[in-house]
Amino acid sequence: MIYSSITGTGGYLPERIMDNAELEQMVDTSDEWIKSRTGVVKRHIAAEDEMTCDLAEHAARMAMEAASVSADDVDLIIVATTTPDLVFPSTACLLQERLGVRGSAAFDIQAVCTGFIYALSVADKFIKTGAANKALVVGAETLSRIIDWTDRDTCVLFGDGAGAVILEASEQPGIVSTFLHADGQHKDLLKVPVGISTNYAAIQEGSAYMQMQGNEVFKVAVNTLGRIVDETLAANNLEKKDIDWLVPHQANTRIISATAKKLDMPLDKVIVTIDQHGNTSAASVPLALDVAVRDGRIQRGDKLLLEAFGGGFTWGSALIDY
Ligand code: COA
Repeated sequence: MIYSSITGTGGYLPERIMDNAELEQMVDTSDEWIKSRTGVVKRHIAAEDEMTCDLAEHAARMAMEAASVSADDVDLIIVATTTPDLVFPSTACLLQERLGVRGSAAFDIQAVCTGFIYALSVADKFIKTGAANKALVVGAETLSRIIDWTDRDTCVLFGDGAGAVILEASEQPGIVSTFLHADGQHKDLLKVPVGISTNYAAIQEGSAYMQMQGNEVFKVAVNTLGRIVDETLAANNLEKKDIDWLVPHQANTRIISATAKKLDMPLDKVIVTIDQHGNTSAASVPLALDVAVRDGRIQRGDKLLLEAFGGGFTWGSALIDY
C-alpha cells in the first residue's frame, strides 16, 4: 500500500501589515471589538503589484527546500485559491512555470476556505493510486482584492498569505484520512455575487466584493466542525486524547475554541495564528501548519487534525501522522 506523507512545509505573508488601529481610521470599529469578537490583531495585505502566484511561489520554494525536492522531482501541482491571478491559465500553471517544473499535472481547486483540505485530499489520492510521487500543494490568497474596505462586517476579518506542503509517496501514513463535504443550500450566506458569467460589469468597475451573514455563518461553522471532528475520530477508531495538535482554519477564535472544546483540548494544543494573520482563506491551514512546524511545536510522530470550513458551504478534515 502506498501512502502520502508531508515532507516539507512553507509559508509566506506579504510585507505590509494592517493593524486594527488602521482599520479604526477606515470604518466605525474598535481594536477592542475586533479582538474580542474575532481574535484578529493584525493582518498582512498584498502590494498592488503582488499577485496570488507571487505569494504562492514564496511558500512553495520554502516547502521544496524543506523537503529537499527540486523542480525536476515535482509531478503534481495543486493550488487552492479563490483569488486566482487570471481567469485562466490556472494559478497552478503560472506557478509551475515560475518554479521551472515541466510536464507535471497542474490545476487549481476552488473550495474557498476549505480549499487547502480539498487540495490535500486530492493530492493524497493521486499519490495513493500511483498517479503522482511528489506533489506540491498550495493554499494562496489575495483576499484583500475582494473585500469592501468600507464594510465593517467583513473587512476586519480577512488577510492575504500563502502556505504550501510537499506531499511524497511513502510506505507509512502520512495522511491517515481525509473527509470532504459541501452543502450548496447555504450558498447565499457567504459569497461574492459576481463572476465571469454573472454581473461581469462589477468586476470591470472594481466592485466585486464579499458579502457575509456573519451570525449565520458562525452558527453553521461551529455545528459543522463539531460533526467533522466526530466523523474523523469515529472513522479512525480514535479517542479525543489521541490527537496531539489541532490545526484549524483560522476564521474566528470563538469558532476555533468551540472545536477545541469539542475535542476536550486545551488551547495550548491548538495552533492559533488568527491574531497575526486574520482569515487568509485557503492559505490559513497550511500557514498555521508551517508556523508550528518551524517553531518546533509540531514534531515528527505527532497526530494532527486539520480542519476547515468555508463558503459554499464546504468543510473538511485531514488526520495526519506527521
Ligand atoms: N466593529 C464594530 N461593531 C461591529 C462590527 C465591527 N467591525 N461589525 C459588526 N458590528 C456590530 C453590529 O452592527 C452589531 O451591532 P448592533 O448590535 O448595534 O446591531 C454588533 O456589532 C453585533 O453584531 P453581530 O453580527 O451579532 O456580532 P457577532 O458577535 O456575530 O460577530 C462576526 C460578528 C462577523 C465576528 C461573527 O459573526 C463571525 O465571526 N462570524 C463568522 C464569520 C466567518 O468566520 N466567516 C468566514 C468563514 S470561513
